[in-house]
Amino acid sequence: MAIVSAEKFVQAARDNGYAVGGFNTNNLEWTQAILRAAEAKQAPVLIQTSMGAAKYMGGYKVCQALIANLVESMGITVPVAIHLDHGHYEDALECIEVGYTSIMFDGSHLPIEENLEKAKEVVALAHAKGVSVEAEVGTIGGEEDGIVGTGELAPVEDAKAMVETGIDFLAAGIGNIHGPYPENWTGLDLDHLKKLTEAVPGFPIVLHGGSGIPDEQIQEAIKLGVAKVNVNTESQIAFSNATRAFARAYDADEAGYDAKKLFDPRKFLADGMKAVQGAVEERIDVFGSANKA
Ligand code: 13P
Repeated sequence: MAIVSAEKFVQAARDNGYAVGGFNTNNLEWTQAILRAAEAKQAPVLIQTSMGAAKYMGGYKVCQALIANLVESMGITVPVAIHLDHGHYEDALECIEVGYTSIMFDGSHLPIEENLEKAKEVVALAHAKGVSVEAEVGTIGGEEDGIVGTGELAPVEDAKAMVETGIDFLAAGIGNIHGPYPENWTGLDLDHLKKLTEAVPGFPIVLHGGSGIPDEQIQEAIKLGVAKVNVNTESQIAFSNATRAFARAYDADEAGYDAKKLFDPRKFLADGMKAVQGAVEERIDVFGSANKA
């Protein structure tokens, strides 16, 4: 199984009332941690790179090769899609070219007509190569890699029109935001989600900003039609908390730190990576996609 496009397993999640995780990666170790978690939980996953993370890692070719080769060398058996998260039009085309198996074209900052037109073009090019497509209507709030949205509820008519372009799954704003949720956040607008899913019956919806939403709200959203949940911040916080704790444990023991050669990045990053794996496994359980590979 291993590297596949995502439309079949995302639709299977929609049809059977669970969600798969779209987990953002940032480097080699992160990718390994997500793959280990998916294999341990026997869950299908999308490993996704934002445009910024791909640039950080050396470009889309590097990311594609890294994920594909790790899947092989680690003997991963669960379905894995290599996905572009929030891609501009040109980035979507580049990812299709270099072998991503799934892409998100994010034209939500464009006028709706242009967003729809470009999505249609991306769908034609992607589907010709067996690549699945996610698109977005209504901006997701918060800030991710310099992409800032004010947050809004996706207009139902726009969602319907976007589904008609032939995309495979739809990201739609329902009060969700990227990054940590502020104290005064009022929660997901599940009534609006219901309106959206009634307008596009059976179609898989993607919940962005999956970190920090109370589990019961995520599970309600899944019942209503969310079939993919994106997670980035939660893994980042797990990684940084574990790494900080590891470093602090040796604050008063420089000699012990040096004697154990903990400055070796393979040792220094180990706890953080275990924490990422743990966070991803925990999310897979909450989304209900364990043992769905
Ligand atoms: P979080 O920042 O809530 O993890 O959201 C990630 C995301 O939606 C990526 O597209």
